[in-house]
Amino acid sequence: MRKFIVAGNWKMNLQKDEASKLVSEIAKNISETENFEVVCIPPFPYLFTAKNEMKESPALLGAQDVSPESKGAFTGEVCAAMLKDAGCKFVVVGHSERRQYHGEQSSILKRKVARILEQGLSLIFCIGETLPIREQGNYKEYVAGQLVEIIEDFNENDAFWNNLVIAYEPVWAIGTGKTATAEQAQEMCEFLREKLKEIKGSKADEISILYGGSVKPENTEELTKQKDIDGFLVGGASLKAESFLSIINNSLDVIKNK
Ligand code: PGA
Repeated sequence: MRKFIVAGNWKMNLQKDEASKLVSEIAKNISETENFEVVCIPPFPYLFTAKNEMKESPALLGAQDVSPESKGAFTGEVCAAMLKDAGCKFVVVGHSERRQYHGEQSSILKRKVARILEQGLSLIFCIGETLPIREQGNYKEYVAGQLVEIIEDFNENDAFWNNLVIAYEPVWAIGTGKTATAEQAQEMCEFLREKLKEIKGSKADEISILYGGSVKPENTEELTKQKDIDGFLVGGASLKAESFLSIINNSLDVIKNK
């Protein structure tokens, strides 16, 4: 059975004391639930702090980025082995902010994915269309292209499939307060699962597909009800324990009856 995952991507926010407090409040208020995972994704300097705060809890740690290199003279880079040392289970790859501000394209993303898999870590692979692409109408093909570019290199039996989480994040909904409607999010997550099925067969049903883009406590219930949405990648609303915990609890309430 696939997992429901609520992941909080803090981006470049918070400082050490705030980071500790946030993770400790989350850690204190969540409990082990089958097929349900909570992930905190702080900036690099706070990974160890966050890991320390979550050690008595089922919360998991993720990183926002990774180097495409495995080690050596690459000033400013952080490699996958270091992330593993810090206690990460997940690494975000292909976030629209990396694509937009750092020009990351599939050639570099593929190398990042390879480094993540070498360390036995999982990836949260982000895909999504910009507003002009949505308005042109060819957004499905565009987003499918972003996915296929990465997955086409893997065979049916590769461990990759067990370590893959997909996050569909329409760029027009990120940080804008403008969430995709539950129908729009479901339409894309269902379409992506169909794409995965074409390539991966029935195992596609085991891959979690998250939605991201202005997720907040008020819209989690409706989004969680959708059959192909398996969780959330949350930005702004993951910076406060109260809102992040509400998202977790609202989804748990719906899942019990899903
Ligand atoms: P947001 O960010 O929730 O602030 O829109 C989502 C994301 O970028 O993953």
